[in-house]
Amino acid sequence: MEGKPAPTPAVGGTKLRYPLTRRAVKGAPGPCGISRLRQGNGDGMRGPGDRRRKRGTMRPLRGRFMLVGIAALVAGSLAATVLLLHFGPGVARGGQAAQAACAPTAPDDEGPFYKPNAPERAGIGSGLVLSGVVRAAGDCAPIPKARLEWWQANPQGRYDDAHRAVQTADAEGRYRFETSFPVAYYGRPPHIHVKVHAPGHAPLTTQLYPKAGQTEIAFDFVLRPR
Ligand SMILES: [Fe+2]
Repeated sequence: MEGKPAPTPAVGGTKLRYPLTRRAVKGAPGPCGISRLRQGNGDGMRGPGDRRRKRGTMRPLRGRFMLVGIAALVAGSLAATVLLLHFGPGVARGGQAAQAACAPTAPDDEGPFYKPNAPERAGIGSGLVLSGVVRAAGDCAPIPKARLEWWQANPQGRYDDAHRAVQTADAEGRYRFETSFPVAYYGRPPHIHVKVHAPGHAPLTTQLYPKAGQTEIAFDFVLRPR
């Protein structure tokens, strides 16, 4: 269950009060980072010609700027390292970027409305075309004759046999399936269920989520070898 983020604690009631409260404490750092004991009496000014005091005031400021600069350099180096580790290997390998794209397709819930033995057909509606290739994870090779089972809710938001199908990918692993845009139901976004099977590979059960107005989805299913 998601909770509300904890409110930011209010120190001193408001941001304005915080520095005034600190300056009121004897010995606490003043606005320039030096204590009132070092500043002397009153507002710390001994006179217009007091160069020693001016140098003493600016030294902590300079030190503070240096600390901020060092912190920025360290943060920048860390960010560059993270980016390099994340993107560098793919960029360096170049041609192997396609292999990274062949990570196994993420599974999704089967839901309670799957039924086996649906009719063999390449479409259950019109207006939305799904196409792609069934591939093997790792080497990205097309899997010939993979089997795809489709099911989705009808326009009334119910599952029926008219909205189920089974089809076989061709010898290059290609599939093309035409359907109608699915409806949202029970608070779920529009989605299409699919199971993909192929010998020597773990079956995949997942869902596709078309966006409003979409008429085509190109999607390769990537199966994990057994
Ligand atoms: Fe569903």
